[in-house]
Amino acid sequence: MPAAPKLSVFVATRFLEEVESAFSQAFEATFTTEEDEPLAELARLAGEGARFDVVLFSLNVRMGAAEIAGLPEGTRALATYSVGTDHIDFEAAAARGLAVFNTPGVLADSVAEDAIFLMLAAARRATESIDLIRERRWKGWTPKQLVGVQLSGRTLGILGLGDIGERIATRARALGMRIAYHNRRPVPDGEARGFVYRETPEALVADSDVLMIVCPSTPETRGSVDGALLSHARPDLLVVNVARGDIVDDDGLIEALASGRIRGAALDVFAREPDVDERYFALPNVFMVPHIGSSTIEARLGMGRILIDGLTAWQAGEPAPNRAA
Ligand code: GLV
Repeated sequence: MPAAPKLSVFVATRFLEEVESAFSQAFEATFTTEEDEPLAELARLAGEGARFDVVLFSLNVRMGAAEIAGLPEGTRALATYSVGTDHIDFEAAAARGLAVFNTPGVLADSVAEDAIFLMLAAARRATESIDLIRERRWKGWTPKQLVGVQLSGRTLGILGLGDIGERIATRARALGMRIAYHNRRPVPDGEARGFVYRETPEALVADSDVLMIVCPSTPETRGSVDGALLSHARPDLLVVNVARGDIVDDDGLIEALASGRIRGAALDVFAREPDVDERYFALPNVFMVPHIGSSTIEARLGMGRILIDGLTAWQAGEPAPNRAA
């Protein structure tokens, strides 16, 4: 049987060389040369007669209703190099009959490791430690310097217990932590697996020493970690966000941190990336990294592979586990 023709893919984001080379082998791939305006370039190429089955992109390309409406005739699928899909308007995609693919699973261990890194950084006052030593202000060991908290015996409250949350829980258990969580519904066998369900976010916060935000950004979760929610916190609470910045209401979190209402925070994600609310920089009890949850070579290669496998299966009329719509 002759091999099926390769899918024609417009790659609207640039990736690691290894990933781009895998895309080039698997697809008739055209890589954007205008990273700031890739969709304008796509429209121009289509106007010149190019035809693409798939538009492949990442978090830097918003696929809202207007962008989807502007995609060239003949586009049949969207593939996002991310597990999060909040930059895609699914209704608009469905209205145009577009299939949507993302990258679940393959980055979950990387994000879980990042979550543990951030939790430890918050517990051990990493920002103050790093500043003290790098600014050459350290005068020597004293029993009073930079006293943090030990995590063993404390409760990790996971807001959004899914694949990534469970991998965080496995690692946190190795640190001696107890696991509580809130989802809209309890997870199957949660109790038997040692996950304590809290029916509301407020009950979870009240029961947590660390609040780990892992839920997707949806109309329901956006802005939900706010001053009102944090008013239920114990004074020792650490807030860690590895999900999306807009789940946190910055005013509420900053006020809780600045007033000492909670102990600290560690943030991988921000509401208006790459702009970070200036007020965080003045808070020594905040540890920040620039959205690096899936930034490991293992995750990056896996994300490319799962998109190739999913799109190839779809082209062959087979089910693809990473089809989001
Ligand atoms: C990263 O934030 C992702 O959604 O993959």
